[in-house]
Amino acid sequence: MIVSKSYNELSSTVADMVETQIKEHSPSKLGLPTGSTPLGMYEELVNRKLDWSNTITFNLDVYLMNINHPESYQSYMRKNLFDRTNIYPNHYHFPFRPFSAFEDKIAGSMGIDLCILGIGTNGHIAFNEPGSSFQSRTRVVELSEQTIKDNSRFFDSIDEVPTQAITMGLGTIMEAKKIILMARGQSKLNILNVAMNGEVTEDVPASILQNHDNVEVLYCE
Ligand code: PGA
Repeated sequence: MIVSKSYNELSSTVADMVETQIKEHSPSKLGLPTGSTPLGMYEELVNRKLDWSNTITFNLDVYLMNINHPESYQSYMRKNLFDRTNIYPNHYHFPFRPFSAFEDKIAGSMGIDLCILGIGTNGHIAFNEPGSSFQSRTRVVELSEQTIKDNSRFFDSIDEVPTQAITMGLGTIMEAKKIILMARGQSKLNILNVAMNGEVTEDVPASILQNHDNVEVLYCE
């Protein structure tokens, strides 16, 4: 695990990795996260004014909600990245139905090159909550009580937090050629240790990453 000295350093280190990927490999396919942790990385990437015209992206997950709601992940991505770069609108993808077509889109032309993940306090990656099958593919999931509680900070009240989402599966994510997991804050330290050094078990979805041969974990306090 790489421990960054500050959130700025964490954000720019991951932005460096994304920049290298999209500059050196054309086209590049990225798997992209939402949530609070990647905000600094997106800001950094936007400020670098990179050429995104040959980059194709797949978001890891979306809430099942009105996509025009300000807290939808579609709104988040437009606001923090897509509307501020020259990426082509038909080059970014959110999980869509039929899920087999979304999976085919990812798998076509060799799959995701670089997938960036966060981790939930319960060990989820994307919205694969504890108990998700290691073989799982893109599907509708119920959010756990812990995730609803954690994410209620983005909404006026906990009752507004969506209870369902569509997420890439753990099997889908594990097919990415390279994975970066970014985590920030003391509240993530314990679950990171359990996921990276404990038993590989479906009770801790992120523990599956121990079975991937190209994963980097970056943490800052
Ligand atoms: P966060 O979310 O970056 O908002 O902490 C991470 C996650 O739930 O995957």
